Amino acid sequence: MNSLNKNLGKTLGAIILLIVFMGAQAQDAKETFNKTCKACHTIGGGKLVGPDLNGVTSKRSDEWLAKWIKSSQSLVNSGDADAKAVFEANNKIPMPDQNLSDEEIKGLITYIKSKSSAEGVASSANSTNETPQIALKNSDNASSEEISLGQNLFEGGTSLTNGGPACISCHNVGSNRIIPGGLLAKDLTTAHSRMGGDAGITGILNAPPFPAMTQAYKNKPMTEKEIFAISSFLNKVEKENGAQPAEATSPLMKYGFIGIVIWICTVLLLWLNRKKYSVKKKIYERQVKSY
Ligand code: HEC
Ligand code: HEC
Repeated sequence: MNSLNKNLGKTLGAIILLIVFMGAQAQDAKETFNKTCKACHTIGGGKLVGPDLNGVTSKRSDEWLAKWIKSSQSLVNSGDADAKAVFEANNKIPMPDQNLSDEEIKGLITYIKSKSSAEGVASSANSTNETPQIALKNSDNASSEEISLGQNLFEGGTSLTNGGPACISCHNVGSNRIIPGGLLAKDLTTAHSRMGGDAGITGILNAPPFPAMTQAYKNKPMTEKEIFAISSFLNKVEKENGAQPAEATSPLMKYGFIGIVIWICTVLLLWLNRKKYSVKKKIYERQVKSY
């Protein structure tokens, strides 16, 4: 009887340890997800740069997911039909490989699974999970001050509050507004739509998932206001580029025309307001606070 009790105690102890251990693992997986995936994915919060991962664990096998997360492009290039289909369905934006251990990947899959079942595939439309619903403001309606702030931040004329480097040191945008930028990383002329609009850009700038960029902005996060300004600038640049006759399909022409009108207004406004910039800025900052 005594030894039975002792064994029971041992078993219970082991179970409790296991639960604590699993809890810790789940916590780790959540952190890993937030750090390395959340910039591009939600679980039940809609599409960002990559697809909503809600329910993906019932659509794909764990083995497939592990291979994908380890190196999505290797899987695509191996000729895997599902991998190719997902890649092509997402405008061929490659998902960057992350330096994750097999354990971490397993944890991530478990985490996605648990979040998926908790949120339920059906509720994906307006779920209230922890993924912040960004893009509260729409940069289509950005003011000319916000766009020019974005441009200044991009070019480095205005420093980022927390001291991160200017985007132009690594990226170029095809705009005759600014001098050519760095060629270390991709041209961002069409990044705004390619990354899924404000939500995608905001996600990436909040938690840059590309190693060089992660490093550059480590402990130097951009503020919400800066991110919105940069997203507005990229949005604007892309629209201006659409205005060029090379891509004269009708919806683009329409966009382009609107773009030109907005652009001319912007230039006029900027020119008119140049001297009063600091006054305007104060008003603008007051407005931003009341958001
Ligand atoms: C820079 C953006 C980005 C980051 C960061 C990112 N992904 Fe992705 N992910 C994508 C894109 C884009 C796709 C769509 C496929 C493609 O274009 O390669 C994708 C596809 C996927 C898919 C396949 C979905 C399906 O329907 O089959 C899974 C699973 C996935 N990602 C998981 C993750 C996990 C887990 C992480 C974090 C370790 C992560 N992703 C980080 C952009 C990203
Ligand atoms: C230290 C260099 C560096 C700096 C500074 C930097 N980036 Fe990046 N960025 C990268 C790298 C590297 C990538 C990965 C994709 C690539 O190879 O171009 C990337 C990717 C991106 C992407 C995804 C591009 C795509 O089409 O896949 C966006 C959007 C982006 N950066 C925006 C910005 C913005 C906005 C800033 C300024 C706030 C910035 N970056 C500053 C290096 C940098």
